[in-house]
Amino acid sequence: MLRLHMNESPYPPSRTSLEYISKYSNLLNLYHVEELYEELLNELSNYVGVDKRFIDVLASSSSLLTLMLTYVKITDSAIVLTHPTFHVMYQLLSNYRVQHAYVELSRDDFTLDTGKLLELSEGRVIYLINPNNPTSNILLEDPEVLRKVARRAKAIFLDEAYYEFSGLTFKDLVMELDNLVIIRTVSKAFSLAGARFGYIIASEKMRKHLSELRIGYEVPITTQAAVLGALRDPHYVRDVVNKIVEAREETREKLVDAGLKVIESKTNFLFVNLGKPCRKYWELLKKNEILTLCLENLERLKEFGNYLRVTVGKPEEMNFFIKKLLEVLTT
Ligand SMILES: Cc1ncc(COP(=O)(O)O)c(C=O)c1O
Repeated sequence: MLRLHMNESPYPPSRTSLEYISKYSNLLNLYHVEELYEELLNELSNYVGVDKRFIDVLASSSSLLTLMLTYVKITDSAIVLTHPTFHVMYQLLSNYRVQHAYVELSRDDFTLDTGKLLELSEGRVIYLINPNNPTSNILLEDPEVLRKVARRAKAIFLDEAYYEFSGLTFKDLVMELDNLVIIRTVSKAFSLAGARFGYIIASEKMRKHLSELRIGYEVPITTQAAVLGALRDPHYVRDVVNKIVEAREETREKLVDAGLKVIESKTNFLFVNLGKPCRKYWELLKKNEILTLCLENLERLKEFGNYLRVTVGKPEEMNFFIKKLLEVLTT
C-alpha cells in the first residue's frame, strides 16, 4: 500500500538515528539518562536557535494537544480554533467538553481573517496551525498580528508541525510573549513519526503551567536517542525536506495542468479539490493500493468533501498517484 494518508515521511530515519537507538538501547532499564537528556536538549537548542530554558520535550506533539485542552479546562477558559483545523481536534473538543469557537477560513483559498481572530481572542486560548492542516497554506505571516492576539488572549498555542517545509517560524517571539507556546514534532521532516517525539518552545511561565499537568519521564530513552541521532545528521534531514518540497511542487504543477485546483502548499502534503465529492475516487485509489485522506469521510469536515489530502511521497510514487488519480477521475 502506498501511504499518502497520514503525512508521514516516505524516507526512513537517518542512519545516525538508528545507530544512536542501538547505542542507548541497553539503558532501557533506566527511567532517565541524564547525559543523553542534556545532550538532546543542547542539540535541540542549537537546532531551534533558542536557549534550552525555553524548550521542553514530549512524547509526541499530539500529547500537547490534550494537555492544552486540560489547560483550557482548569483555567475555566474557552478555546478558539480555525475551521477547518486538524481533524482530531473536533472529537477531542467534544470529549473534553471544552467551550470553543471557530474562525472560519475563507472558502476559496482558506486564508485567515485576522480581524475576526482578534475579535474572538479576548481572554481565550488560541490554537493555530501554521501552515495549516488540512489546508496546507500559511495562515499567519505578520508577527505584529501575533503580538496583538497575544495581548488579548490568555495563551496562544501555535502548532509548527510543518515548519521545516515552510521555513516560517515565530519561535523568537517566545522571548517577548510569555503566553505563546510553539509546538513542534519530529514526525514529518525528521522521518521519526513512530518514535513519538515532540517539543515545545515557550516561556518559563507557560512551561511551568504545562509541566505541572505532566508526570515526567515520558519520552522513552530510545526515542531520545533517535532524535539526538537525527539532530546530529542535519544533512540527511535537509536532503529529505528538499526532495519532498521538489516532489510537492512537481506534483502540484502536474495536477494543476490537468485542470485540478490545488492549494499552494507549505507542508509535506497537498490539498486537492477534485471538483466533486471525493469518496468514490478515494475508494478507487484504495483499490489501486493508494491510501489518501478524503474529507467527505470525516464527520466534521464533510462540507469540504470535494477535497482530498495527499501526503507527498517519493517522485516515482507521486507519478503513480497522479496517473491513477487522473485515470479514476474519468470513470
Ligand atoms: C498540525 C499537526 N499537529 C500535530 C500532529 C501530530 O504530530 P505527532 O506525530 O508529533 O503527534 C500532526 C500530524 O499529522 C499535525 O498535522
